[in-house]
Amino acid sequence: MKPKIVLTYGTFDMFHIGHLNLLQRLSALGEKLIVAVSTDEFNTVKGKKTLIPYEQRAQIVSAIKGVDLVIPEENWEQKIDDIRNHNVDIFAMGNDWEGKFDFLSPYCKVVYLPRTEDISTTEIKKSLDLFLLENEVQL
Ligand code: CTP
Repeated sequence: MKPKIVLTYGTFDMFHIGHLNLLQRLSALGEKLIVAVSTDEFNTVKGKKTLIPYEQRAQIVSAIKGVDLVIPEENWEQKIDDIRNHNVDIFAMGNDWEGKFDFLSPYCKVVYLPRTEDISTTEIKKSLDLFLLENEVQL
């Protein structure tokens, strides 16, 4: 039987436990996990400001056990080509994206996994702001 290939997309800035949990669950869905990491340029398009540059985010994600390949996510339109080019069986994202990628279902199975509660890059950035304020740290 053909090994199942899983594909996901994300920014993975300031890598945290929610990212790790998601990648581990994704890796358990198949035999090969491909992660498309958003480039700095694409994050600008998405209106997302990253702290960690693409090269480092990509390096961190590729070092995670269960991740077999990292590719750049450069635009909104590449998903169908990526699915075809990499022979993808399952497209999977955290459930903050629930329903948003159902249009890919003619090409492969689309699944949404539950997010880890109470953590996100945005929350970490907010906590950091608060920490600096409370401790009167001058940058
Ligand atoms: N994710 C997750 N659980 C979390 C945070 C993220 O499962 N607590 C998943 C998202 O659903 C997505 C992937 O991790 O499929 C990458 O998400 P990303 O947007 O990079 O991380 P966030 O922490 O959500 O970043 P931000 O706060 O900037 O949106």
